[in-house]
Amino acid sequence: MRRVVQYSTGNVGQHSLRAIIGRPDLELVGVHAADPAKVGRDAAELCGLTEPTGIVATDDVDALIALAPDCVVYTALGETRPMEALSEMSALLAAGINVVGTSMVWLVTPRQADDWLRVPLEQACAAGNSSLYVNGIDPGFSGDTAVHAALSLVTRAASITVQEIFDYGNYDDYEYTGTAMGFGNTADAERPLTFRPGVIATIFGGLVRNLAAHLDVELDDIRERYEPWYSDQHIECRMTTIEPGQLAAVKFSVEGVRGGDTVITVEHVNRLTSKAAPDWEFPPDGQSGVHKVVVEGEPRIEMSTSLSHPALDVTEAGCLSTAARAVNAIDWVCRSPAGLVALEDIPPTELIRGVMW
Ligand SMILES: NC(=O)c1ccc[n+]([C@@H]2O[C@H](COP(=O)([O-])OP(=O)(O)OC[C@H]3O[C@@H](n4cnc5c(N)ncnc54)[C@H](OP(=O)(O)O)[C@@H]3O)[C@@H](O)[C@H]2O)c1
Repeated sequence: MRRVVQYSTGNVGQHSLRAIIGRPDLELVGVHAADPAKVGRDAAELCGLTEPTGIVATDDVDALIALAPDCVVYTALGETRPMEALSEMSALLAAGINVVGTSMVWLVTPRQADDWLRVPLEQACAAGNSSLYVNGIDPGFSGDTAVHAALSLVTRAASITVQEIFDYGNYDDYEYTGTAMGFGNTADAERPLTFRPGVIATIFGGLVRNLAAHLDVELDDIRERYEPWYSDQHIECRMTTIEPGQLAAVKFSVEGVRGGDTVITVEHVNRLTSKAAPDWEFPPDGQSGVHKVVVEGEPRIEMSTSLSHPALDVTEAGCLSTAARAVNAIDWVCRSPAGLVALEDIPPTELIRGVMW
């Protein structure tokens, strides 16, 4: 039985919390909440369960550390407050507590992460003899597990494309995702930070370099592409309201180039409802989101992963799967040697033990 603390209960965290409460091999011993309105409330209430757990949320990190859990599931928003998230993760690791999480998406490929992030975390792991593992669905599953599965079916690969084609219309996250993508901006507005030159490559380039390293392929160049789509009509959705002339879809990619050919592409097509960018690719079979891997090779492989759920929309189901990528690794990360753990360090079957109960 692993004693676990859930750190934050946002879009992803409420699903990891539910899984921790439900799984017989995990024991919830604490919950962190930053929002004063959540502090003091029972964990069950914070993830939509009815039966109280007796564990109430606290904003006191030292009290959570004092519980000496085996692992913390860290899902607090990281990318907009990287130094705070880095210091919170480091404090847990240095105290000897293993961390699995979804935040700070650069850590999905820890060996490609920049020194400002990697070095202090490695030091904290060494100080506490602890381990850190970060993953998700995209980045995460789509660029590692799904690609590995697709490539296992070819004798030779000429190129690989990893795509997220997702309708974000129903995603209730204008504050971070919406502003980061520039939804609602007009063509004369300044580009959002995400799409200023070099930024997509810093976010997704690690995935391309990581895949190249797995393939033992040397890239000559990494380049990025960005294409905005401005609406010609009024669009209402949960994310925001779009008026004619405002940005309602984006297509962007990071490409790994070898000998003049694009051999690895990591691409996103994100739109607000199906009215946006009607000429761009849609997910298959009328779905609103897909994670797709295409390998041009011997033979050609096309692998689409679609999520659905009776009560959740596709973006919420994506958050649930993102939570699964962290929770399912708890036991192995608790047993792993100290340091930053990458997906390829974990034997695949270790990530499915415990999901059927
Ligand atoms: N790789 C993937 O596929 C994938 C997919 C989805 C998300 N993610 C990553 O997972 C992380 C969580 O995503 P999410 O959608 O769950 O995020 P979210 O709901 O927007 O935020 C998660 C929690 O972060 C805490 N938080 C937010 N702003 C804060 C602040 N200024 N100070 C302290 N705490 C703050 C809040 O905790 P309280 O509720 O306790 O106040 C909030 O509930 C993000 O880093 C995201 O990039 C990755």
